[in-house]
Amino acid sequence: MQQEALQEIRDASTLDALQAVKTRYVGKSGLVTRELGSLGKLPPEERKARGAEINAIRQAIDTALTERESVLKREALDQKLASEAIDVTLPGLPLPAGGLHPISRVYDDLIAIYQRMGYEVAEGPEVEDEHYNFEALNIPWYHPARDLQDTFWLEESSTGLNGPSEPGAAPAPSVPRLLRTHTSNMQIRYMIDHEPPLKMVSRGKVYRYEATDATHESMFHQLEGLVVGPNISMSDLKGTIAEMARGLYGPSAKVRFQPSYYPFVEPGADFAVYWDNPRGESKWLELGGCGMVHPNVFKAVDDLREQAGKERVYEGMTGFAFGLGPERIAMLKYKIPDIRYFYANDPRVLGQFRGELG
Ligand code: DAH
Repeated sequence: MQQEALQEIRDASTLDALQAVKTRYVGKSGLVTRELGSLGKLPPEERKARGAEINAIRQAIDTALTERESVLKREALDQKLASEAIDVTLPGLPLPAGGLHPISRVYDDLIAIYQRMGYEVAEGPEVEDEHYNFEALNIPWYHPARDLQDTFWLEESSTGLNGPSEPGAAPAPSVPRLLRTHTSNMQIRYMIDHEPPLKMVSRGKVYRYEATDATHESMFHQLEGLVVGPNISMSDLKGTIAEMARGLYGPSAKVRFQPSYYPFVEPGADFAVYWDNPRGESKWLELGGCGMVHPNVFKAVDDLREQAGKERVYEGMTGFAFGLGPERIAMLKYKIPDIRYFYANDPRVLGQFRGELG
């Protein structure tokens, strides 16, 4: 029995199998245990020798069990560690990299073109006073042009944006505020702070209270440009827009101007670009509005400068301005069929702009 037990212990290849062997021989009703229990049935003179013999067997089995158990435990641990092992010399898993949003890419292209032509880049607020968004741009409150740009007005309240500047102070006089409907507000802001001659571009978000569809969003972007000096002409404007078109679409790009109306320019125009599109989709792309700065705008700026204790320097000046939407450029360039995809934060769309930064 001892030989058999020791053999079975050696053969047990798992802890469970070993436990079964243990139960079979030295468990409560195991073979060895039973032998010990039956000692009482022997004649007294045989008991001692027989008892010693069985105890020796039990001892041998217990020892073998303990040794085998520690070997199997060791093996199980080694296996577990092997399965959990990591190679610390392997390179790490790369985190998904971000990328530049398609609108940022188009902006960067545009700004680079204008910086090559010596333009300064300006930034301004999206929450704007009515005066900078409309009034100073020759759009008085009764002007129908205000209806063309449905406006998000900010709610005025004594504790809100126009509330007292500090506790206990009288409320500030209520200046109607809005989310700017275009970046043309930057013309006014820039001219208050700078004297001519000047060349400025400004990028940013604009807001319109409109129903959305594939080509309309209530938030979108514009790039505004302004050039002011003593002898700026319409041909400067046309040359500048043509230079931008070539910068975007290569030497074959053509521009087209059509008379249009914006209160802050006279004459005003809309411009479109055409180029030999390698995908064979050549068509006129309506890009934006432009024109010669209206004398009323210069006058309004001088009034604001005067209020701020600055010199009047704009009356008698000449200048041109333009405004365009990068979404139209990006939709065509990246084949994005719906403007709402730009801002829905859907990783299936934006994930395509991951990695390379341009
Ligand atoms: N602000 C106009 C708009 O949002 C675009 C525009 C037209 C800007 C003519 C200009 C301009 O600077 O001269 O529709």
